[in-house]
Amino acid sequence: MQSELPRHVAIIMDGNGRWARRRQLPRIDGHREGAQSVRDVVRAARQLGLPALTLYAFSSQNWQRPPEEVQALMQLLRDYLIEERPEIMDNGIRLSAIGRLERLPSLVRDPLDELIADSAKNRDMTLCLALSYSGREAIIDAVRAALGAGVPEDRLDENTISLYLPTNDLPPLDLIIRTSGEQRISNFLLWECAYAELYFTDTLWPDFRRADLARALEAYKGRERRFGLTSEQLPVRSRA
Ligand code: IPE
Ligand code: IPE
Ligand code: MG
Repeated sequence: MQSELPRHVAIIMDGNGRWARRRQLPRIDGHREGAQSVRDVVRAARQLGLPALTLYAFSSQNWQRPPEEVQALMQLLRDYLIEERPEIMDNGIRLSAIGRLERLPSLVRDPLDELIADSAKNRDMTLCLALSYSGREAIIDAVRAALGAGVPEDRLDENTISLYLPTNDLPPLDLIIRTSGEQRISNFLLWECAYAELYFTDTLWPDFRRADLARALEAYKGRERRFGLTSEQLPVRSRA
């Protein structure tokens, strides 16, 4: 089924370091400018009426970056959570987070937990932050949780695993956007991306703003999603 607007868009926000390097600035300046893109894109997504937006903000592998960079990213995350609180609350945005959140320092964890709790009843859009996230870990955690809950081995099917994944409260993933010209998934939503449309752009994340999001959504409209079927089997309106 193809609807005009994706129900759930996920973005691999890449290219902050290169954006800074091109200006001979420290990498962290790229991350700071990238935070401005987050603000702009979240606002645009809300205005366009996207039901769910997931942002890959920090991967499990990103912990291995130089400690100063990790520390600076944590500080930027904290600033974001504190500064954007009114925007999130006033616009009916529900904040959620996926990943091994227990690894985050309390300077991030505390404002994160607070905003997740306070925004839990908001209904207009879900903004999900992937933090300390790895798609492989998410699948492992889901299988372990299902087994821990007593699900018998022969009931470990696709529906059950989906139920135990941290994205189970979000609509199906329709579109993944990756900025900066890299064409890979980098351990993002590995299970959920099975039939998502992929959109790659050379634009670096700090330069990616609402007009770029609109372009990605426009490209999505032209895709024919077949889910393994033939074109002829699809309802007429879903054909490109
Ligand atoms: C994305 O930008 C932000 C994070 C991964 C946290 P990068 O920091 O990966 O930027 P490049 O890829 O080095 O340009
Ligand atoms: C992916 O970007 C992770 C985030 C955007 C948070 P990376 O820059 O870490 O990915 P690779 O190393 O280029 O695959
Ligand atoms: Mg990168």
